[in-house]
Amino acid sequence: MINSVFRQRPRPFLLLGVIALVVVAALVAGVLLLTRAYAAPPQPLVYQHSKHIDAGVTCLFCHAGAARGPVAGLPSLAKCMGCHASVAPKDPADQPDIDQLVKQWESRQPVQWVKINDQPDFVQFNHRPHVASGVACESCHGNVSAMQGYARPVYNMNMGFCLDCHRAQAPEKVARLVDCATCHY
Ligand code: HEC
Ligand code: HEC
Ligand code: HEC
Ligand code: HEC
Ligand code: HEC
Repeated sequence: MINSVFRQRPRPFLLLGVIALVVVAALVAGVLLLTRAYAAPPQPLVYQHSKHIDAGVTCLFCHAGAARGPVAGLPSLAKCMGCHASVAPKDPADQPDIDQLVKQWESRQPVQWVKINDQPDFVQFNHRPHVASGVACESCHGNVSAMQGYARPVYNMNMGFCLDCHRAQAPEKVARLVDCATCHY
């Protein structure tokens, strides 16, 4: 019975059918990958830089480590709650995002923020000398203040990116700033 059904179909149509299936599968996979790439933040809580910078909060208020040493660090939930414990959000549509924050706070578990910018272990990066000499956060992180959703990387911070700026510094500093041992030791 099954054999006779197959025999009745001319082969070219079977082949076309298979090709059509493969094309459709590839399209679906492509769309899925694209939506993942542009999807909502890979972060466990909603946090938008744009709304906070608009409200006048400074970068170093939340990333104080950047002025002191290698790691800029992320704010604790206690810091978030310092503002959000009492005041309701201006836009009622944001209330679920605040509820999620409060729930996390009440669970007494730290937030597992996903690390976005990550240099390989053999690179020694330090925020402090950059902040101390007035290099703006934006030079390396782009216009974070306009970012909705999580802070996406704007530049590929590879060795060429670091060296381009280091070579453009005052001549007496360049030798040290391009020395391999400055960034690899
Ligand atoms: C109210 C607190 C707050 C302020 C103000 C703030 N940030 Fe953030 N920042 C966060 C939180 C929370 C995250 C983690 C969520 C995320 O990735 O967006 C973060 C993440 C980042 C990241 C990505 C971290 C990583 O994993 O690589 C960068 C870069 C960053 N912030 C830069 C800035 C800059 C530049 C400013 C000022 C224009 C700023 N932030 C102001 C709270 C803040
Ligand atoms: C210095 C005060 C301050 C701190 C600290 C702060 N926020 Fe906010 N947050 C604001 C203000 C102001 C707004 C915007 C106005 C409003 O919605 O009332 C806001 C809005 C929000 C919103 C609603 C908008 C949206 O995107 O849904 C969320 C969620 C939020 N903050 C999460 C956080 C988290 C998470 C932290 C800690 C990492 C944090 N906030 C730290 C002041 C602060
Ligand atoms: C010269 C480039 C440069 C400048 C300027 C810079 N950053 Fe970064 N930032 C980096 C790099 C590179 C990393 C990843 C570091 C790593 O993986 O060790 C990073 C990581 C971060 C992170 C993730 C947490 C951490 O420290 O690893 C935050 C938050 C951050 N930067 C905030 C800021 C803020 C706020 C400023 C301005 C006060 C700033 N950065 C200025 C290059 C820069
Ligand atoms: C936009 C310009 C700029 C970029 C991009 C930049 N730097 Fe720098 N870097 C500086 C300046 C300015 C100094 C401080 C120079 C001085 O001592 O006056 C500095 C200093 C340093 C120092 C300390 C050197 C010392 O001996 O004091 C290290 C380490 C460093 N940078 C690593 C990096 C790495 C790694 C990257 C890439 C991820 C990078 N920098 C990207 C401008 C930049
Ligand atoms: C200003 C900082 C800086 C200086 C100076 C520097 N590097 Fe790098 N180097 C980096 C960064 C950042 C990376 C990581 C590259 C990436 O993620 O693409 C890197 C990566 C590398 C790698 C890994 C290869 C690769 O492409 O992933 C080698 C090897 C290397 N550097 C060798 C050197 C040598 C040799 C020197 C001296 C001539 C030097 N570096 C000077 C920042 C620096």
